[in-house]
Amino acid sequence: MARRATAVLISGSGSNLQALLEAARDPDYPAAIRLVVANRPDAFGLERARRAGVPAVVVDHRAFATREAFEAELVGELSTAEIELVCLAGFLRVLTAPTVERWRDRMLNIHPSLLPAYRGLRTHERVLADGAAVSGCTVHLVRPELDAGPILVQGVVPVLPDDDAERLARRVLEVEHRAYPRALALLASGRVRVRDERVMLVDERPGERLIVHPSLGTPVGAR
Ligand code: GRF
Repeated sequence: MARRATAVLISGSGSNLQALLEAARDPDYPAAIRLVVANRPDAFGLERARRAGVPAVVVDHRAFATREAFEAELVGELSTAEIELVCLAGFLRVLTAPTVERWRDRMLNIHPSLLPAYRGLRTHERVLADGAAVSGCTVHLVRPELDAGPILVQGVVPVLPDDDAERLARRVLEVEHRAYPRALALLASGRVRVRDERVMLVDERPGERLIVHPSLGTPVGAR
């Protein structure tokens, strides 16, 4: 099967982009990263793209008077590159409904919580403030509503007694970097179906949509 032309949209560090680039180095991986777009010229992910030899462009939202004008430019870049699948990876702009609908069921986002809990920003701070025992990440199909849409893959991590937001974020990122390549592979291989706004996988195997942080293998207190 031809590899699906994929774009990754970023605003910052791009460690999830890095995980996708590394997965896509395997010629058997069903998606090829053909374009990286950043809305900020200083996004470190641009450097990661260059190192991987992937075309990278900046569409700086501050250069446009309206959200629509910004997105027209962005969509133009994606269309020119004949992009089929879009991965939002730490992309800090909310896209309007027409752009989201254009890639309906072909656009993914990663969010650092177990959705539908903790939509929005500062997830780790809120998880800690609530005293939750688990957190994680979610890769979902994008819908116009923020951090909503059919859930494809989730990763779970424990919240540990001495966690602060930074430590928890680091642990969540470890499962993000495994969850996103898995989710994109499932989408690109054509195994994702959406029924009643729920994801069904063709020939789903148990646990295929779940990543478990290695530290959850040994229950604390059982060591
Ligand atoms: C990740 O935690 C992701 O879940 C969130 O933004 C962060 C991006 O990190 N949407 P990076 O730029 O991929 O390193």
